[in-house]
Amino acid sequence: MLSIVRPDVTYTEAAVGGAALAQGLAALPDETRALCDRSEAILFGSVGLPEYEGKPLSERPELALFLLRRDYELYANLRPVRVFAGLEEASSLRAELVRGLDLVVVRELTGGIYYGQPKEQRRVNGVDEAVDTMIYRAPEVERIARIAFELARTRRRHLTSVDKQNILETSRLWRRVVEGVGRDYPDVTLTHLLVDNAAMQLVRRPRDFDVIVTENMFGDILSDEAAILTGSIGTLPSASLGTQRRAGGRFGLYEPIGGTAPDIAGKNAANPTAAILSAAMLLRHSLGDAENAARVERAVDRTYADGLRTVELASGGAALSTDAFTEAVIARL
Ligand code: IPM
Ligand code: MG
Repeated sequence: MLSIVRPDVTYTEAAVGGAALAQGLAALPDETRALCDRSEAILFGSVGLPEYEGKPLSERPELALFLLRRDYELYANLRPVRVFAGLEEASSLRAELVRGLDLVVVRELTGGIYYGQPKEQRRVNGVDEAVDTMIYRAPEVERIARIAFELARTRRRHLTSVDKQNILETSRLWRRVVEGVGRDYPDVTLTHLLVDNAAMQLVRRPRDFDVIVTENMFGDILSDEAAILTGSIGTLPSASLGTQRRAGGRFGLYEPIGGTAPDIAGKNAANPTAAILSAAMLLRHSLGDAENAARVERAVDRTYADGLRTVELASGGAALSTDAFTEAVIARL
């Protein structure tokens, strides 16, 4: 897809995650990392395989993502959730609740409980215990809040900040910092929700949300919940943007949010929409090419509007393979 809209760009493939481990390499091989260092953006596949379940993170394919996010400081994870016209019936909610749904989850991606130290399993006084640490520093909250406010400004100007400030100190800091940043954005309406309530409101009145900003783990959970409102997690892209700027724009990593689908691997059945829309986000944010980004997004919209479906959305009707669906999108560019 990318090489069709931008034949002038050089694309290089490299192994990562399970594909690298299978070759006896590390989850994030040095060669792959060196290639990322030289690139303007990373278009990422998906990591995760059942055979690694239960192993420590250091031996799992997911380690690659964890390292890329950390080492390139990809702190701003944008997860847009849209319901395509014609796909309302695929949602697990009633169609009238999701028609026209268009929200973005802005997830903080390099802090909080994913990375805080100590993070370990240990034996204390003969008892096994484990600890994860949730920690935020004000500047980390401030920079993600700014990204979210800026984004809200380009949309419906409504930002919902999600925390658990009735219990967590990190959330009290979060709320205070977000409030402070909000003073610079008087044109954006800021609302706070506790995460448990947010989880409920997302399935009750999802269309009321515009931009949601939240810390790492809450964002992980809420973005999957928001995603399935669309009927298929296979349609949702994401961007993880960092602090670095390279030639065309911000350096970033772009990936489908759904992760792997080992049950259909190799069957030419996966929905390519999330990968295609991730490429569109790459064009917009890392290559500064909003025009081609919109062109790709419109082609996807038309493909759905024309009634074309991959198997998980076909509800018994005709289903296109991954390749055929991709060709259909390309034909509509
Ligand atoms: C995601 C995934 C990852 C996460 C996993 C694969 C480590 O669930 O990107 O949402 O938890 O961040
Ligand atoms: Mg997740």
